[in-house]
Amino acid sequence: MFKKFGLIAAAAMLATGAFSSANAADVIRVGTEATYAPFEFMDENAKPQGYDIDIINAIGEAMGYEVEVVNMPFDGLIPALMTSQIDAVIAAMTITEERAKRVDFSEPYYKSGLSVLILEQNKDKYKTLESLKGQPLCAQIGTTGAMKAEELSPGNAKSFNTEPEAFMELKAGGCQGVVNDRPVNLYYLSSNASEGVIEMSEMITAEDYGIAVNKGNTEMKQIIDEGLKKIRDNGKFAEIHKKWFKVAQ
Ligand code: ARG
Repeated sequence: MFKKFGLIAAAAMLATGAFSSANAADVIRVGTEATYAPFEFMDENAKPQGYDIDIINAIGEAMGYEVEVVNMPFDGLIPALMTSQIDAVIAAMTITEERAKRVDFSEPYYKSGLSVLILEQNKDKYKTLESLKGQPLCAQIGTTGAMKAEELSPGNAKSFNTEPEAFMELKAGGCQGVVNDRPVNLYYLSSNASEGVIEMSEMITAEDYGIAVNKGNTEMKQIIDEGLKKIRDNGKFAEIHKKWFKVAQ
């Protein structure tokens, strides 16, 4: 009886907006794809961690908002944003012209770029990007790496839901190279899992990461840009960079 009353009371409050809208205003729902260390990954307790998570939490803190991180597939992030299931995306997402047609981006917050991983045993075979032509190349679905893989070896790009799956496929011999963001490749190379894997010296492109918001959501963009500026000014941004990359930016 008591339980039922509680439910009805809650429903009534929801209907009048007594707590739902108050909550919604103070919480920023942020989508990410947490298999992308060191930017976003799940720790032992299935809690999202990483550079991006620290950055967005610091922005929230600086601006007086609570941040709720929602994990989803990378190629589902922009659709989730466009249907307002989330308010923002932080996912090591590169600001591209193509994406900027569908979403708005914050000021750039991280300078990145792509590189290619190959097996060490093939280092004499693949010395140039050109030599990868016609070879199967792996990447994460929907990423700039996947687009580049298609460009380097037309018709031979293979996409995986997560980056770790692409790395595993390289080791298993299912592809000859992985095209991916360089800082994530370097992080992988510093782990034991990458034995026998090396990076090709030719770096591909320079890219900037941005935090995406719904097209026209100037309020959210302003909150994020202002938060970014605040944490750059108060030293928090540099502190987070040092924590994850061991060096000053
Ligand atoms: N920077 C690349 C892109 O924007 C890859 C991002 C992948 N991010 C992730 N969380 N899996 O396409």
